Amino acid sequence: MKVNGVPFYRQSFGKAEIAEVTDTIKSGWVTTGKKAKLLESEIADYLDARHTVAVNSCTAAMHLLLCASGIGPGDEVITTPYTFASTSECILYTGARPVYCDINYETLNIEPDEAAKKITSKTKALLPVHIAGLPVHLDGFVRLAREHKIKFFDDAAHALGAEYKGKMVGTIGDGSAFSFYATKNLTAGEGGMVATRHTKLAEKVRLLSLHAMSKGAWKRYTKGGSWRYDLLDLGYKYNLSDLAASLGLAQFNRFEEFQLRRARAARRYTAYLKTIEEIKLPVVEEQSVHAWHLYMIRLRPRMLKINRDQFIDELNAKNIGTSVHFIPLFLQSHYRKHLNLNRKDFPNADKAFGEVITLPFFPDLKQEEIDYVCGVIGSICKKYKR
Ligand SMILES: Cc1ncc(COP(=O)(O)O)c(C=O)c1O
Repeated sequence: MKVNGVPFYRQSFGKAEIAEVTDTIKSGWVTTGKKAKLLESEIADYLDARHTVAVNSCTAAMHLLLCASGIGPGDEVITTPYTFASTSECILYTGARPVYCDINYETLNIEPDEAAKKITSKTKALLPVHIAGLPVHLDGFVRLAREHKIKFFDDAAHALGAEYKGKMVGTIGDGSAFSFYATKNLTAGEGGMVATRHTKLAEKVRLLSLHAMSKGAWKRYTKGGSWRYDLLDLGYKYNLSDLAASLGLAQFNRFEEFQLRRARAARRYTAYLKTIEEIKLPVVEEQSVHAWHLYMIRLRPRMLKINRDQFIDELNAKNIGTSVHFIPLFLQSHYRKHLNLNRKDFPNADKAFGEVITLPFFPDLKQEEIDYVCGVIGSICKKYKR
């Protein structure tokens, strides 16, 4: 196979996905119904989670976890600036204030010790992110939450399939939020899921996810249903459609195979790249299983004559798709202006941001494609070695 370039992402959709989505279309029921329920129960079984609620994004899942826990104006939630917009947006939607910790420079995750320093009488929850699929140090966060009688939620957008000390991420804190966005380990096109062990919290999340209606459409329009409903609270339009859930179900049938292929691709990248001294590899930790959502390398800037942005330009010139996870929130206009964030307060996140490159990474990535990417990285490093 002659490789001339590698895209950042390529989907693994086939006949099974087309058949499952077609089945939903032919059934005539495309909004939330039995397929969304089935996806919930399959993921609950996989995680061994007591409750799961399907929603239309991870952003929605996190917002609902916070709202359903009564978090609102005057409250604080401790989180990371090194993430996508969603993690902070969901806090701000509730009227609470995000309080940011700097990250661990090596893992890119926030640490329980740093979070502990930010706790005040207003703190109501902790909300770390498992960056790239590497679990945060969950036992420390759980302990901290217990000590201070606050909630521990996790943004598990990257972490379906990850494990920490033998337990699945999604079963450890008070509630976890997963993403089924187009490029996530499991996709439904768009979608998300709440997993929680708390029955009352799950019921509230479910209620708020569909306008807080006493009965959803499935209960109103299927056999024996009645048109009458009551609005029990201020709800949201966050339900997952059966159309999306059917794509998710077909993909979930192949999920464990996808995870094995992601892990295999990560091993091949690592085996090749560890021979290039200008590159630092992603951190893996003994106590956890990495979900391998992303494969992020780091440049050693002192060993190169070009910076990260120029390195990406060189990769692009060889038709290699890349991304950068993440542009920290203290570099984003809205957050700088309205939350008064200053990059000087986050030296680790600031430094790491200048070094990271996310490489092409997906289950169907071919060995030859990995070798091509690594070969190009090797030649760039050679050319621009300091
Ligand atoms: C860390 C993190 N959290 C949350 C999200 C949001 O997921 P969704 O698009 O399903 O709302 C993303 C999406 O990319 C993410 O990377």
